[in-house]
Amino acid sequence: MAGFPFYQLDRFLKILVQDLQKYVAISEEFANNLAGKARSNGLMFNRKVARIVTPGTLIDEKFMDHYEHNFLLALYINTGDQEAKSVDTTMLSSDELSSSSDQSVGLSWLDLSTGDFFTQHTTRSMLPSALVRIGAKEVMLDEGLGHSLRREIQNLVGQGHRLTYFPRPHSIRPLSAWSDSFESPISLDLAATFSTEETAACHVLLEYVQTQMQGMDVKLQAPRRKHLEDTMIIDRNSLKGLEILETARDGLGKGSLLHAVRRTSTKSGARLLRDRLTSPSASLSVIDQRLDLVSGFVEDPDLQENITLLLKRSYDSQRLVQKFSLGRGDADDLLCLSRAIDASSRIKSVLSEQVGDDRGEKAPDSISHRCETLRSMVCRLNMDGPEELSTRILQTIDEEALLRKQRIEEQDAADAAALAHEVIATEGSLEDFDSLPKRVRSQKTDRSRDSKESETDESNTWIMRRHASFTLQQLHKSLESLYQEKTSLTEKLRSDAKTTNLSLKWTPGLGHIVHIKGSKAMSQCLDALGVTRTVASSKSTRSFHLPSWTNLGARIDEMKLQIRSEEQLIFKSLRQAVIRNLVKLRRNSAVLDELDVACSFAFLAREQGMVRPILNMGFSHKIVGGRHPTVKLGLEEKGRPFINNDCFIGGQERIWLITGPNMAGKSTFLRQNALITILAQVGSFVPAEYAELGIVDQIFSRIGAADDLFRDQSTFMVEMLETAAILKHASQRSFVIMDEVGRGTAPEDGIAIGFACLQHLHDVSRCRTLFATHFHSLADMTSDFGNLGRYCTGIIEESNGSFSFIHKLEPGVNRKSHALKVARIAGVPQSVIEVARTVLHDMSPILSQPRMEESQTSATVLARQ
Ligand SMILES: Nc1ncnc2c1ncn2[C@@H]1O[C@H](COP(=O)(O)OP(=O)(O)OP(=O)(O)O)[C@@H](O)[C@H]1O
Ligand SMILES: [Mg+2]
Repeated sequence: MAGFPFYQLDRFLKILVQDLQKYVAISEEFANNLAGKARSNGLMFNRKVARIVTPGTLIDEKFMDHYEHNFLLALYINTGDQEAKSVDTTMLSSDELSSSSDQSVGLSWLDLSTGDFFTQHTTRSMLPSALVRIGAKEVMLDEGLGHSLRREIQNLVGQGHRLTYFPRPHSIRPLSAWSDSFESPISLDLAATFSTEETAACHVLLEYVQTQMQGMDVKLQAPRRKHLEDTMIIDRNSLKGLEILETARDGLGKGSLLHAVRRTSTKSGARLLRDRLTSPSASLSVIDQRLDLVSGFVEDPDLQENITLLLKRSYDSQRLVQKFSLGRGDADDLLCLSRAIDASSRIKSVLSEQVGDDRGEKAPDSISHRCETLRSMVCRLNMDGPEELSTRILQTIDEEALLRKQRIEEQDAADAAALAHEVIATEGSLEDFDSLPKRVRSQKTDRSRDSKESETDESNTWIMRRHASFTLQQLHKSLESLYQEKTSLTEKLRSDAKTTNLSLKWTPGLGHIVHIKGSKAMSQCLDALGVTRTVASSKSTRSFHLPSWTNLGARIDEMKLQIRSEEQLIFKSLRQAVIRNLVKLRRNSAVLDELDVACSFAFLAREQGMVRPILNMGFSHKIVGGRHPTVKLGLEEKGRPFINNDCFIGGQERIWLITGPNMAGKSTFLRQNALITILAQVGSFVPAEYAELGIVDQIFSRIGAADDLFRDQSTFMVEMLETAAILKHASQRSFVIMDEVGRGTAPEDGIAIGFACLQHLHDVSRCRTLFATHFHSLADMTSDFGNLGRYCTGIIEESNGSFSFIHKLEPGVNRKSHALKVARIAGVPQSVIEVARTVLHDMSPILSQPRMEESQTSATVLARQ
């Protein structure tokens, strides 16, 4: 048990929930009604748990990363009739997830902060890539699952993440029975489209959310199924190895593909971009539509800039809307929402103008496609309800009064902070001072404005405009007349007491008091008013109660209370109006997100000189002048040029076997082509001069970045696990990059394994493969492979002994690794280099023929098998 001051809630929630992965129960006090009072033996307040905060159930906490989704994921593995049993954890082949037992798995994940809800039906072998792709902040697992499976999943989601276990439910409610949790009911037909496993995962997830939110009304979007066949699957190793979201070395965003291509203007747009990068499309029509939109913005920079400017004013409307659906959100949020709606309307009219402009002309095909896509965006933006809502918000909420109120609240907070500061400065320790929030710590102690002195303020801090409702208007009129009564009473009392220094006040300690200051004939004044007892006095002031002011003051207070509760009623009805528009608002913001991503890609394309890729259903890649999106940027920062390279695989040459010295750019080439493929299928332009790509269903890579991060397996074991996954799952439509397979063991074994892999990929998988290796004998051993091309990079050696890398890929085999040159650049001591050179020289006759023959023999044996 631990306690902390309320103003530090955010700070401690971050530490407890996000950093330490703890669950925090928030208990609140609620005023008891009569029945409650009777039940609790007269207690005025009831204390109950209002919410349990866990890493996956954050709503609008300030510390949330707005550029990422905050997903809670439930995983339901169908164990069939057989009970989930503990598997022997000592077995070496403990990689259960990639084992051959391909059980059905239902995945269901949601983001409470946006209301997004997805499901997917997958298999156990595909689970790792799904887990990495979704990147959930909390994962729910069946408590009956075997120990090694749990351990495997823990490794996949990261040791820092806590798994939440649920008991296997006895009965599963169909999705149609959860209608209360969704923005609109789920029909029986729609519910039937989800598999049993998906429905079970949804059941577990929704039950958990209900418990954690303690009955808070949660309105989620209807679950959307992610179909495996519609998306390009990027396996877990590729997501990490290709550094799509973060760099493998330091796990930071900078240097990753996401970081390099992100030019989005809104946080929700950034989230969509992230989702798309992890699951590019595999549907030609979807990709073409996305590319049409980007092309439109590339060709019309003014349009893109206009839309971008408007997007910047649209706030994070997904999260804004979700706040209201969870019964949260304040007047400020309403104003933001209204501005977001206004931005959407303007976007709609800008786009409509564009579509209208182009409609008259006889447009060529490309332009008419572009118009079609823009037109569909315009149609999807449904402003009917939202525009009304926005007008209502602006007519109801008094923005200036709200600002005034905020200023007063800030001042009050500053006063409170200054008071805390003073108290601690006089009575507290240094530790106490440190525990103050920074904002409070920096407050000056000068409390020139004494809040207690503040008189009842007649320019009250109402946030609604007077005419927001008839009742409110009447109440304000009544309040005004009460204020007039107060003025008359003041005048009467002043004339009775014959002083102008009399005023009617209210203070927290004394209530409604009459105050006279500086009057020379103080006692006469008091006598004239019939005052016999004062409640406070100083040298020159007197304060006392007068029934006429006490009664009037009470009536003013009562009226203010009524106004406040009427304002609350109006606010509640506005909140309900937001909820009534929930579906439209969410759909509109989804359109805005798509526009944001498209504008971002268009901006990037112009900035980086990218081209529109041509996608088709073929099985080949034709990339001319390809570049690596992140390495290029890194080199340019250092003032070095990046050398473009072509890649023509598929067709005659399905496999490219690439050799070359260390540091020659082999790995870069492999990755750049995988990244270009991903970018194209995400719907972005690509860094190349020309790109024609046959749609890819899965990207696999064996590049061995930071092996040990993934699990506690030996380097070679990881290498083989990943290789096995590629050989088992790659289809003819897949794209495989293999970097130095076999390097983790003895050269002979490595060569043998490399050869066997190449043969399998060539004869069985028949997929597009880029294979980089230092085992140049592989080039000779595969001489009879009909669909394998050999390419290499090299170095230019100068007569003075210096050398430089060419970085340009050419047909052929390079048998020199120039490893010692690289070692020298790296700063290995010259004496060590000399020894290495002597050893290399002595070994070269031994290394060349006999061993190679041995490998060739084993390769032939493998080839025959
Ligand atoms: N096309 C290119 N143009 C310019 N510089 C490049 C290019 N490709 C790679 N480089 C530079 O060379 C460095 C090494 O590239 P890379 O890691 O791809 O080499 P490699 O051939 O895989 O080396 P190794 O065999 O040691 O793994 C990169 O970090 C980059 O700075
Ligand atoms: Mg390399």
